Amino acid sequence: MSEGAVKKEERRKFQAIKGTRDLLPQETALWNRVEQTAHEVFATFGFGEIRVPIFEPTELFARAVGGETDIVSKEMYTFEDRDETSVSLRPEATASVCRAYIEHGMQQFSQPVKLYYMGPMFRRERPQKGRYRQFYQIGAEVLGGTDAPAIDAEVIEMVMTFFEKLELQGVQLSVNSIGCRECRPKYVELLRAELLKVKDKLGPDSQRRIETNPLRVLDSKLESEQAIIAKLPRIGDHLCKECADHYAAVKRGLDLRGVKYLENWRLVRGLDYYMRTTFEITAQGLGSQDAVCGGGRYDGLVELLGGPPTKGIGFAIGEDRLILSLQESGKAPVAQGRDVYIAWMGENARATAVRAAKTLRNAGFSVELPPVEQKFGKALGQADKLGAKYALILGNNEVTSGEWTLKTLADGTQRKVSEQQLFAELKKM
Ligand code: HAM
Repeated sequence: MSEGAVKKEERRKFQAIKGTRDLLPQETALWNRVEQTAHEVFATFGFGEIRVPIFEPTELFARAVGGETDIVSKEMYTFEDRDETSVSLRPEATASVCRAYIEHGMQQFSQPVKLYYMGPMFRRERPQKGRYRQFYQIGAEVLGGTDAPAIDAEVIEMVMTFFEKLELQGVQLSVNSIGCRECRPKYVELLRAELLKVKDKLGPDSQRRIETNPLRVLDSKLESEQAIIAKLPRIGDHLCKECADHYAAVKRGLDLRGVKYLENWRLVRGLDYYMRTTFEITAQGLGSQDAVCGGGRYDGLVELLGGPPTKGIGFAIGEDRLILSLQESGKAPVAQGRDVYIAWMGENARATAVRAAKTLRNAGFSVELPPVEQKFGKALGQADKLGAKYALILGNNEVTSGEWTLKTLADGTQRKVSEQQLFAELKKM
């Protein structure tokens, strides 16, 4: 290697991989608030947290999500492990939760089992606003027990309650039923036949989907296809009696809970495991990637993965999008400052400063203790920069007299306080 090449190599700057990003403290404060709210709200509905691995056998996702879906066929991060098995970073977590349900014999637990999760997912999509290759989901699944429509309604009520608590703006819920193993195949054949009649007028993606998955044509955002799609037969007119009754009962359940929704017969979702209820929620400020939550019923998925016949329904929220929407509507909390900045000078004051910091932190105050002594002027400047509320000034005089100086940074007033008074004073704020 030439010297020039070595230099160039040394200067190389590393950057986060395309589609991934760092979240800095100004942002993570909001992330933590959102996650804390999820823990609280989901607990009130009786859900417990599950943590599943970041990677799983590729076959799990291929089987559950579907080998023909975009997620599995184009977007998974798949690699061969050292023992030559194929593993993939999880593109979603429903498959893993179902695997865990089977693996831990959760059908023996009291049914239904109500679980939620949060964490990163991976899909190799084209990055844009609200779309990343590593993104975060907060999701929940209800497994086992019955397929009572009230479960669907309550799961949806739970997400809506969560969004309400966060004061998410412009929330719109769309619902649909995509039928079951009995009625959907018949509808899909009818749809395919109708699509074949207008094939020449469709774009290449939709043309291909006539063969692979005609339902996905309904998803098309292509302007030129909208008028054609509007005239296609609608699944709502072709549901079997059980599915039609179930769907009607889900809607009644939503009404009963005061949950507002729009019906969207074109809502089909991009994963193969769904049946009957499907839903999606959009929020404001997100541009084209405005779906903050997607979910639906997936009876039979556990069975498909080798478990007992099991009902299932759930959803996943795109946390990145949820945060973006909250930020756009000004709901983001301001970056956290400090309660107290300890400005100390002199070896005598060091021990007192360390002791004061320890006691204040134990009492729950956020304290900045500079590691080396600073002139008071400089220290107060630092305190201002950090947005501290108070500066505790500890010099030789303060330490010998036991009279500490507490300065309120907002108005510059200061007063003498004893160690005891300091705590009383700070607790008042
Ligand atoms: P999904 O619709 O594929 O469903 O994803 C759910 C949500 O994750 C989307 O609505 C979106 O907010 C977010 N999301 C998806 N891809 C990205 C991305 N590349 N960047 C940022 N956010 C993204 C599922 O994953 C199902 N497992 C949901 C479910 C749970 N159904 C039943 N149970």
